[in-house]
Amino acid sequence: PVLFYQYAEQLDSDCIVVVIDVLRATTTIASALNNGASGVKAVSEVSECIEVAAQLNGVAGGEREGKVAPGLEHGNSPLEYTRELLGGRPLVLTTTNGTRLLNLAQKHSPKQIITGAFVNLDAVVTHIRAEKKLSESNRLNVVLACAGWRDSVCLEDSMFAGAVVSRLRETGDFQIQCDSAQTVESLYNSAKSDLYENLKSASHFQRLAKLNLFDDLRFCLTPSTINLVPLFNVDTGLLISKV
Ligand code: MLT
Repeated sequence: PVLFYQYAEQLDSDCIVVVIDVLRATTTIASALNNGASGVKAVSEVSECIEVAAQLNGVAGGEREGKVAPGLEHGNSPLEYTRELLGGRPLVLTTTNGTRLLNLAQKHSPKQIITGAFVNLDAVVTHIRAEKKLSESNRLNVVLACAGWRDSVCLEDSMFAGAVVSRLRETGDFQIQCDSAQTVESLYNSAKSDLYENLKSASHFQRLAKLNLFDDLRFCLTPSTINLVPLFNVDTGLLISKV
């Protein structure tokens, strides 16, 4: 959210906000929708998670400090929300950083809020390009909002933002307007050959590694295995799958 505040005043009807929390909230959101969740509702507190899941006949899940949040049965592993567990129901999710940033973004009125992670990188870039073509003014700002960890920068979120910048630059129809975008692009280009290996020093990688969540880490850091974009629906307050 630190990076996000810098641009909050720019969130307008010409802006798409990409909420990023690679380890693991936005990876989990993409995975749950890919496994048939009818939607994902991001909430900030465990109590609200339980209450809203009951109201929606959904599945409640959440994490604090990388572990299953006290009071919940399910955590924030992208591998946990299988088709069988979800049964087509909505997932109501609360995490330490990612869902809080999602709720912060909803307080502004951007054109769109989507979520991105390495697992749906191709789909996110394709979606942004398509939205720019559709925009009447042919003007579209993209704010890459990195969740980080408790208002500190996270290497993996910055690297994903850099991957999006790098891919959008390829077609030449997006201007890279700020130094932070160029910084994260360089970061990504220096590490893209082996994201898993090059992110081992990241603080949250190490936090999850201490919890032996290596399967989660492998899944989260394998690009473009999921071909959908979680898109925030203002009417329902849910993230839904846009293929
Ligand atoms: C977060 O919100 O910071 C992450 O989702 C934490 C996690 O899942 O380990």
